[in-house]
Amino acid sequence: MKAIVRTQYGPPDVLQFTDVAKPAPTDDEVLIRIHAASVNPLDRYFMRGAPLIRLIPGLRTPKHQGLGADIAGRVEAVGRHVKQFRPGDEVFGVCRGAFAEYACAPVDKLALKPANSSFEDAAAVPVAAITALQGLRDKGRIQPGHKVLVDGASGGVGTFAVQIAKSFGAEVTAVCSTRNVDTARSIGADHVIDYTREDFTRSGQRYDLILGANAHHSIFDYRRALSPDGIYVIAGGGLAQIFQAMLLAALLSWIGSKKTCFFIANINHKDLVFLKDLLEAGKVVPVIDRRYPLSDAAEALRYLEQGHAQGKIVITVEHS
Ligand SMILES: NC(=O)c1ccc[n+]([C@@H]2O[C@H](COP(=O)([O-])OP(=O)(O)OC[C@H]3O[C@@H](n4cnc5c(N)ncnc54)[C@H](OP(=O)(O)O)[C@@H]3O)[C@@H](O)[C@H]2O)c1
Repeated sequence: MKAIVRTQYGPPDVLQFTDVAKPAPTDDEVLIRIHAASVNPLDRYFMRGAPLIRLIPGLRTPKHQGLGADIAGRVEAVGRHVKQFRPGDEVFGVCRGAFAEYACAPVDKLALKPANSSFEDAAAVPVAAITALQGLRDKGRIQPGHKVLVDGASGGVGTFAVQIAKSFGAEVTAVCSTRNVDTARSIGADHVIDYTREDFTRSGQRYDLILGANAHHSIFDYRRALSPDGIYVIAGGGLAQIFQAMLLAALLSWIGSKKTCFFIANINHKDLVFLKDLLEAGKVVPVIDRRYPLSDAAEALRYLEQGHAQGKIVITVEHS
């Protein structure tokens, strides 16, 4: 089969589009014929071998040569213990080595694809939308009527976060740059702040929940913009912001009534089904910026690395 592989860490130039052996599922896995994948900042960290991340795929060179996590496709074969899926089922979720014609995935990282979604739309969902969902619902304890601000509302996580927050009945403020203002409105934001013109942390407005989908302010700025019992949840953003949150979030939460937390999303079957229902109800529609064929995955990573994707970047997989 065709796949994207790399034998060393580095920039997108290390990615090769080549022939590799088709994988075989273990007893608890399914083999998926992939029709689309999507790109996440995580893929970039695994590609470059970011210092802490390297502990997972291998210190000197990547133990697994494949790359990519988000997929949508059709089940080709199932392991001996698999009861949840059958060959022919259309599924979405995460796996190792998603930038390929085929990959194996554990059943608890998959769900049936939303009936009304294309493979491309479904592949855009798993990592980004689950991050948004868990940040808002589990960490942010979102409630109907809450004033919720999403900082970094125009990227993969942010475009899902705006729509998911609306589906919970929140009043949503999206923060993005000028060229994304119209998109933020079109996906349901009640208010849009252009960060090139206005600093929301200094406006005096207070929010019950702030999701730092792409946090670029200091933790103290975000906390200033919270209501007295507000919660600031950081999913991602600048390295300084993430380290600051990892070091200070628990301490600051302990001191006052405002809460702060950093979290790592846990991709699971239950939340994929939750998102499937939102997509089927039309409450969430993936925003896709660009599509690249599998052979151009390196270009997709180059575009992601510029840091200004307008929604998700999708990789389409044509089978010969
Ligand atoms: N914690 C977790 O488990 C988890 C899971 C997934 C992702 N993440 C992290 O979450 C972050 C976002 O992921 P993503 O998939 O949404 O990335 P992404 O799609 O690459 O984000 C790109 C977006 O970020 C926006 N942006 C850049 N600088 C900004 C700024 N100063 N203020 C506001 N927005 C800004 C850009 O908008 P403009 O062009 O308008 O600037 C662009 O639309 C990343 O750091 C990622 O590593 C964490």
